[in-house]
Amino acid sequence: MSEWFETREGLFGQAVQRLSRGVADRRAPARHPTMATVNAAGLPEVRTVVLRAFDREAMTLDVHTDLRSTKMDGLAVKPNAAFHVWDAGGHLQMRLATSVAVLSSEQADDLWARVPDPSRQAYGVTPPPGSKIETALDYTKTPDPATFAVLRCRVESLDLLHLGTDHRRAVFERVTDWAGHWVSP
Ligand SMILES: Cc1cc2nc3c(=O)[nH]c(=O)nc-3n(C[C@H](O)[C@H](O)[C@H](O)COP(=O)(O)O)c2cc1C
Repeated sequence: MSEWFETREGLFGQAVQRLSRGVADRRAPARHPTMATVNAAGLPEVRTVVLRAFDREAMTLDVHTDLRSTKMDGLAVKPNAAFHVWDAGGHLQMRLATSVAVLSSEQADDLWARVPDPSRQAYGVTPPPGSKIETALDYTKTPDPATFAVLRCRVESLDLLHLGTDHRRAVFERVTDWAGHWVSP
């Protein structure tokens, strides 16, 4: 019997499963992807985020953030983000290239209603995220739906690298309906 990483379908299926697990399971590697954007000066920026939703059919993922955070300035100029997950248990690196849409305030309001209280604390800090402050705790948390943003990231391509006895790498693209092709690792 062949192992999942020996076929492109197997690799893709595992990536989808592991991304789904990231939403459901706080301890799953895909729970905390690294999200990369470019800033207004064209320079790369990365940060850890929480994977809030993954839609297998649409191949989109959701990230929640503060509308006034620095990443929003970069996304306004270049609405693309790359995500990276190293799933050590699966010996699988996942790299996702996405195009990013900021959901409307009506759509975000619906989702805000479902954000649990402790998580709401992350949206609505005064002064805004990234502002210079005199001492480390010179800020207040004021949960505010007006500063809550949902980034819907449409996966355009998925680059999967499996490090087993052999190394295997495949790239899957939306334009070819995720058919995928092998590439040299
Ligand atoms: C474990 C962890 C989870 C995080 N989750 C999020 C998140 O879901 N959304 C978010 O905007 N920032 C999150 N952050 C904070 C970001 O890493 C980052 O510090 C913040 O968003 C400001 O980034 P920016 O200045 O590039 O906008 C998280 C940080 C850590 C360490």
